[in-house]
Amino acid sequence: MEESIYQFPQIFRRVHMEAPGDIEREVSFLKQLWRRHLKRPVRRVLDIACGDSPHGQILARDGTHVAGIDRSPTMIAAGRAAAAGIERLRFYRRRIEQFRLPEKRFDAAFFMSETFPIMTRNRDILTHLESVAALLMRGGIYCIDIDYQGDIELINARTLWRERTAQAGDVRVDIREYHRPIEWHEAMHSIYELECTIHFADRSVITRDVIPVRYITPPLMDLFARASRKFEMIAAYADLSFTRPIAQCYGRWLAVLRRL
Ligand SMILES: C[S@@+](CC[C@H](N)C(=O)[O-])C[C@H]1O[C@@H](n2cnc3c(N)ncnc32)[C@H](O)[C@@H]1O
Repeated sequence: MEESIYQFPQIFRRVHMEAPGDIEREVSFLKQLWRRHLKRPVRRVLDIACGDSPHGQILARDGTHVAGIDRSPTMIAAGRAAAAGIERLRFYRRRIEQFRLPEKRFDAAFFMSETFPIMTRNRDILTHLESVAALLMRGGIYCIDIDYQGDIELINARTLWRERTAQAGDVRVDIREYHRPIEWHEAMHSIYELECTIHFADRSVITRDVIPVRYITPPLMDLFARASRKFEMIAAYADLSFTRPIAQCYGRWLAVLRRL
């Protein structure tokens, strides 16, 4: 079986085109958003699909209690190593589709890195929202970061989308990204295939991740929230801005759900 890029936590950040300061900017936006939509201080936060929880590391160092969930033992191990000594940051190995935690309720939850659309089945989205709702206080805020999906075309054959190179320290990574075709009746927008050839000094490793992507726009997220009967969608912000109209979204948007 081919490996996944998530088995290489240090490298995946460069592959995902994360720039220095991106995570700090996201955390700062989340804090502003909580002040705007939550009338009480945020002391306990849930980080969904946290990976090594770079957001949680910043928040926990600032005094917030953070629990992160992720399915990848490698990402969690990297997070635990990076957060060594910060007791306020805890990791749990869980799947996002349905989970429970031995934790008190949280003031807020977030799902960053544009990963929510990998949940393509209606059932998974609803059990996910129920799982998050069970851990959030009434009035708590759930922020979901979603990629702008306005420019992807439907295709009939596996198609090379982009070829690029990333550098992670001394290691060069050749990246090929493909779109794969979908069945017309699927609740999906595309299937994204990420192939990375990682050139370590002594060997090369090829990773492949095949990621189904569901088309999610603000009205669809509003519908999911209503269908869950646990949330209402109260805002949608484009590109980490409180003022840019959603119609002018360039790269990503953030759904804000409130726990009923
Ligand atoms: C792009 S990374 C983002 C990690 C982190 N939030 C960040 O901003 O760096 C996506 C994460 O989602 C996790 N993931 C993907 N599918 C998952 C699932 N079904 N259940 C739990 N975690 C999942 C992966 O293991 C990976 O760590």
